[in-house]
Amino acid sequence: MLKLVELVLTAEIYNRFSELSEDDIPKKIRKLFYGKTGISRPLVVKVDVAKQVGNVEDILKLPFIDVNTFTKQIIVTSFDAAVKWFASKGDAIEIIRNNPVLAYFYQNYDSLNISYEEAKKKNKPRHSDREWLKSVVAELEKNPETAEMLCLVRLYSPEDIKVDFSDVALNAEQMEEIRKIEVAMEERAYLKQIGLTEVGKLLFIGPPGTGKTTTARALSKKLCVPLVEVKLSMITSQYLGETSKNIEKVFEIAKRLNPCILFIDEFDYVAKTRTSDEHAAVKRAVNTLLKSIDEINLVEDGVILIAATNHPSLLDPAVWRRFDKIVEFPEPPENVRRRIFELALSKVEGDYDIEELVALSDGFTGAEIKLVVREAVLKALLRGDKRISQQDLLNAVEEVKSRLNLKTSY
Ligand SMILES: Nc1ncnc2c1ncn2[C@@H]1O[C@H](COP(=O)(O)OP(=O)(O)OP(=O)(O)O)[C@@H](O)[C@H]1O
Ligand SMILES: [Mg+2]
Repeated sequence: MLKLVELVLTAEIYNRFSELSEDDIPKKIRKLFYGKTGISRPLVVKVDVAKQVGNVEDILKLPFIDVNTFTKQIIVTSFDAAVKWFASKGDAIEIIRNNPVLAYFYQNYDSLNISYEEAKKKNKPRHSDREWLKSVVAELEKNPETAEMLCLVRLYSPEDIKVDFSDVALNAEQMEEIRKIEVAMEERAYLKQIGLTEVGKLLFIGPPGTGKTTTARALSKKLCVPLVEVKLSMITSQYLGETSKNIEKVFEIAKRLNPCILFIDEFDYVAKTRTSDEHAAVKRAVNTLLKSIDEINLVEDGVILIAATNHPSLLDPAVWRRFDKIVEFPEPPENVRRRIFELALSKVEGDYDIEELVALSDGFTGAEIKLVVREAVLKALLRGDKRISQQDLLNAVEEVKSRLNLKTSY
């Protein structure tokens, strides 16, 4: 019952106060109202929508609520009576504290001691919703020009990202850089005010399988912003000028989707092709890339730029200084390997000695440690065993080692 009244009152208050935004509507309520083009104002609570929240018959018994039998819309017949009734229910106070729309109204109401700011902090903004991303994409698809841009990138809503920071073992320096980006995102308004706009551009360097992509994804989930992923090799074209155009389009898309993370993988790709005959076209592409990086920033555009490469030495020197921070993803040292083993084995039954594995896996990346665990689990399953033994793991370590040797012998 309270949940239903919350729904109806939220819609009513949101419609009355135009200063309230979609970010103020609690995520779970917002999700009831997404249409193809987003959430339309005013919010209309139809019986069908209310049914997803509770038993509609119940609230129709309340004297201040009615239903329009033609439009099937639930309406508040007396706003004053409704807000008074709601405030008088003890359990409603907690609901109000978690609902920015209600908190906005009730912060000045009697002596309830409600803070709109506090409620806002507890609610995830709309760009964390997969429905929001869908509606923005639907809008961009209407225009052939922007529809074409969408083909160049992969988009992920933070809701659909499976990894978070509890799944990644990072060292202290990596963690600090991630924290800095988080606070920069939170304090965008302040940074703008003091004129510090050059923040939010990171370059991740390190060998394959060391967690660069995983970290970018986990950051998107943590910040509740969509991830725009692009591999430079995928947008490089043999046609003159096309690569430059594609680069511009990718940055344009990121700006349209703000706030978001623009993750550019294989960042060395353009630089790598420099030695080819198409020198002029490549030079132009590099220049476009530099210019695009200059023209985007977190504070004004709401875009965090993360570029990743396995071959930092190939990068144009001019590229380096455009990033506020180069974050290294080295082959993990002992303590990080221990953590990755612990993470990878956390749900696996068996008798094993992680210390021995850590000592034997010098030079392994996170990806290779995961491979060890996967091999051991599959080997055990082959025996019909869900418990793995230390021997399974040791065999798998040897296997991965011989793989590594193959890699270096060619
Ligand atoms: N530090 C780490 N902690 C936990 N898992 C890790 C770590 N590093 C790598 N992994 C695991 O290894 C796999 C590959 O990682 P990821 O794709 O992030 O590597 P990458 O650095 O982006 O590699 P590439 O340069 O080839 O793109 C993932 O399954 C990831 O979970
Ligand atoms: Mg990667």
